[in-house]
Amino acid sequence: MEFSKGMLEVARRKVKERELEGRVSLVQGDIQALEFPDEHFDLVLAEGVLEYCADLEQAFRELVRVLKPGGHLVASVDSLYYVTWAMANSEELDEIPELLREKRYLEEEGVYCNALTLEDFRVLAERRGLEVVALIGKPLPYRRHTSLELSEAVLALYAAGVSTYTISRFLKKRLHAVRDA
Ligand SMILES: C[S@@+](CC[C@H](N)C(=O)[O-])C[C@H]1O[C@@H](n2cnc3c(N)ncnc32)[C@H](O)[C@@H]1O
Repeated sequence: MEFSKGMLEVARRKVKERELEGRVSLVQGDIQALEFPDEHFDLVLAEGVLEYCADLEQAFRELVRVLKPGGHLVASVDSLYYVTWAMANSEELDEIPELLREKRYLEEEGVYCNALTLEDFRVLAERRGLEVVALIGKPLPYRRHTSLELSEAVLALYAAGVSTYTISRFLKKRLHAVRDA
C-alpha cells in the first residue's frame, strides 16, 4: 500500500527486478482509510509510514481494524528522543519546544512528521486493545548516554513547565560542555 504514484512505480520496478510478480500486490491508497475488510490480515507491517500520517490515531485504528484476531502488527514511528537529539546537535534549538509540545516536527518540503516516545507508542497500541509484545527504541548514533540523558532532561524540564527559553539555554550550555569534553 502506497500513497504516491511515483513511489508505487519504484515498488513495481523492484518487484519486477526481484522476480516477485504474482506474489506481491501493490495497492495505491491511504493507510488512514484502508479499503480492506475488517479482520483480513494475519500480519500487518507499517514501516516508516505512521510518522507521515496527519491523523496518527486514525491510521493506527485502521491498521488494527484489518488485523485478524491473534494477528500481529509490526509498526514504526520516529523517535522523540532521536529527533530531539538531532535538533539539539544541529542547533535547531528553537524547534524543540514545538516538537515536545506537538510530538511532531516539520521535515523538509513542509511535511509534518510524528515523533513519539516508546511509552507513547505503547499507549497508542494498548488503547486499540493490542497486547504489546516488544517495544524497540531507536539507537542514537554516538555519545549515546549523553544524548539520551540530554533528551530525557529536556523532556522532564518541559513536562515540569520550565520555559522554552530556559530549556534552550540549558541545552546550549550542555552541548558546549559535551563538545569541550
Ligand atoms: C519513508 S517511506 C517508507 C517506505 C517503505 N515502507 C520502506 O520502508 O521502504 C514513506 C512512504 O509512505 C508513504 N505514505 C505517507 N503517508 C501515507 C499514507 N497516509 N498512506 C499510504 N502511504 C503513505 C509515502 O508516500 C512514502 O513513500
